[in-house]
Amino acid sequence: MSENKDNKMEKIISLCKRRGFIYQGSEIYGGLAGTWDYGPLGVALKKNIENIWWRMFVDSREDMYGIDAAILMNPNVWRSSGHVDSFSDPLVEDKKTKKRYRADHLLEEAGINPAGMSIEEMSAEIVRAGVKSPDGNELGGVQNFKMMFETKIGAYDDAEAAGENVSYLRPETAGGIFVNFKNVVDSFHPKLPFGIAQIGKAFRNEIAPRDFIFRVRELEQMEVEYFVRPENWEEHFEKWRKDMWNYVEAIGLPRDLVHELEVPEEDRAHYSKRTIDFEFDYPFGRKELYGLAYRGDYDLTKHKEGSGSKIDYVDSDSGEKILPHVIEPSLGVGRTILAVLTSAYTEDELDGEPRSFLKLAPSVAPIKVAVFPLLKNKPELLKKAREIYEMIRKEIPQIMFDTNGNIGKRYRRQDEIGTPVCVTVDFETIEFDGADQDAEVTVRDRDTGKQERVKVGEILSHLKNQLK
Ligand code: GAP
Repeated sequence: MSENKDNKMEKIISLCKRRGFIYQGSEIYGGLAGTWDYGPLGVALKKNIENIWWRMFVDSREDMYGIDAAILMNPNVWRSSGHVDSFSDPLVEDKKTKKRYRADHLLEEAGINPAGMSIEEMSAEIVRAGVKSPDGNELGGVQNFKMMFETKIGAYDDAEAAGENVSYLRPETAGGIFVNFKNVVDSFHPKLPFGIAQIGKAFRNEIAPRDFIFRVRELEQMEVEYFVRPENWEEHFEKWRKDMWNYVEAIGLPRDLVHELEVPEEDRAHYSKRTIDFEFDYPFGRKELYGLAYRGDYDLTKHKEGSGSKIDYVDSDSGEKILPHVIEPSLGVGRTILAVLTSAYTEDELDGEPRSFLKLAPSVAPIKVAVFPLLKNKPELLKKAREIYEMIRKEIPQIMFDTNGNIGKRYRRQDEIGTPVCVTVDFETIEFDGADQDAEVTVRDRDTGKQERVKVGEILSHLKNQLK
């Protein structure tokens, strides 16, 4: 990572902490690697990102069903899905310090492409190329490290006593969708094609969590399993590909920072017959943002065999019995937030002074409008500003009232958290000699700093227009 890129990430991480977006997990105890806590503005940003997804892929479609499944599941779910055996990353240990690393990451950093390499090939490549640990020491052989977090279900305090009752924190939300396939079919009798959607937490014991919220151990996913007739999978894969681009646009990510990558067979997950990764140009490099996979009938077949339950889909018209195939658009919430923040972070000069601000799309901005009285110690100004604030709040609830510091400082603070518009009530507003609706306030645009006078009676339509 170049100094500049490091610097940009440091500025964003510091802004996130200072302004209440994202804090280190368990910070006062020294933190817990790979965990992050969302503060008030971070939660608002996250909810906006999730709500846009839910509206676009569930509420506005007739072929989609939302669920919220339990994180703890019968461990046989993960045995059937293949995760117990196959969900692992290549681990390598520094022989001297005993610190552990992702072998593929160390190879990449040494300029070697580890794509498609087995753990034996990685071990050989490390020796051949003389790859060392970040501390400059020799590395041991590469092993598969299982990434699912284990836990014990019931009154057992050690794993041996727990025996069969060892379970896992789900590593993908998809598992909860597949085991509810039959339930949704039985409750709603949907016609193929249809999808089941879920937003929720997933857990992965990442060997090396890094890059802020990019690679974490407790993550959140927005996933759809879209069930199709086998012969139509390509058509629906293409539709989802377009839908994912529509979502990228809806949250304001610049299209030119997002790139598709056709994942070669040897690099695909064990269940996938085709995968396109959507990669994003983060400050620390081009990395996976989302995945679109064709999982065939892998999961339903495995769960049918593993559970012994009759989960086939029966066409209500023809009586035909089939196991549908699955298209899976899988989107990480944290990676979306990081893409949104890093692409929105802007430095410029305004009124002869340097400023840094978040050029967030109004759709995701945690605060859409801030309302201020010009001065805080004038009761009439305060009263009028509060009145206008309450009036706007009824229609635009993500709003903030701010009286702290001088007006210039308030504008800069709102710029820094990405508030698209500020409304200031001044003496002209309260001294106006006419109908209240005709009194004017100042409306300021975040990106240009441009200010204009708008009549109180027209504020709502003006704001709605500006926030489109
Ligand atoms: N159900 C498919 C699945 O889980 P994946 O490629 O392993 O596929 C899907 O994960 C998405 O989840 C990724 O594209 C990424 O956005 C997010 N993701 C995966 N691991 C992550 C981690 N350790 N930290 C943050 N996000 C992660």
